[in-house]
Amino acid sequence: MNLETFDSNTFKGRSLLTWLDYSEEEIRRLLDLSSRVKAEKQRGEVHDRFTGKTLALLFEKRSTRTRCAFETAFGEEGGHPVFLSTQDIQLGAKESIEDTARVLGRMFSAIQFRGFKQSTVAALAKYSGVPVYNGLTDSFHPTQALADIMTLEESFGPCRGKKLCFVGDGRNNVARSLMVICAKLGVHFTVVTPTSLNPDAGLMETCAPLAAVSGAEIRVTADTAEVEGADAVYTDVWVSMGEESLREERLALLKPYQVNQALMDKTGRKDAIFLHCLPAVKGEEVTAEVIDGPQSRAWDEAENRKHTIKAIMLATLE
Ligand code: CP
Ligand code: NVA
Repeated sequence: MNLETFDSNTFKGRSLLTWLDYSEEEIRRLLDLSSRVKAEKQRGEVHDRFTGKTLALLFEKRSTRTRCAFETAFGEEGGHPVFLSTQDIQLGAKESIEDTARVLGRMFSAIQFRGFKQSTVAALAKYSGVPVYNGLTDSFHPTQALADIMTLEESFGPCRGKKLCFVGDGRNNVARSLMVICAKLGVHFTVVTPTSLNPDAGLMETCAPLAAVSGAEIRVTADTAEVEGADAVYTDVWVSMGEESLREERLALLKPYQVNQALMDKTGRKDAIFLHCLPAVKGEEVTAEVIDGPQSRAWDEAENRKHTIKAIMLATLE
């Protein structure tokens, strides 16, 4: 693929903190670029589009997929990724986030941050002067959501008008990012969650006008019967990173929301797919029968993390 066929004018130098900052058309172009990147990989093409570039990978929380996707996507194209956990560097400990950002911006072409606060990734973007990618915060997980939509489209074609049901902890980072991207792209998005875990009203209010433009229906319900007609059923862990002390409470609350075959069957569709951002706790939010079964696309979804992340970096790096 020749990147000259991709108009990167509106992307160069931009960060990805949440999909709220990108238009529907821009997200669609990134999805298209992701598919092209995947196809060239499948053809065995080798490129060196990140030669001479450097990427700082900052992690306050653990990661398998996100770290490996960024590191391999960048490194295999000649770039130099540097993994920096908060055990290794000063990040808000002895040195302010702003000062760390300023220094990293002098040494790196881009920065990926995974951690707790959205305000940290926003500060990195504000003070570094280079593109900053949100690799998960307590609030959002935008790179995940792009891979999720790519995977949905691989099964069903253009996502507009499709029905995606998120079943589980409706207020978590993955559900929130899905709500935003679905509202932008016209995907009908139903959050199936106990009332006490409803997504916050502020985000719902932010998404409502976006959904009005795209035609997406955004719904929140406590009733698992509402998965009827879904193209895709999605779940995530019941206890997100940093919330370990809430484990017993969450397990009791979310037990009726386990995605098992009976719940998949409530879609009324044999062709409905199952999605999960991973890592999964089999026997909690999903049964092995479902995630390892014929309806699961979780492994394609994991692979798509790499293609989508490469596309985001190709589009935004100067
Ligand atoms: N889905 C995801 O972000 O996985 P990791 O936590 O392993 O990066
Ligand atoms: N909600 C999960 C997502 C992990 C990829 C967490 O934050 O731990």
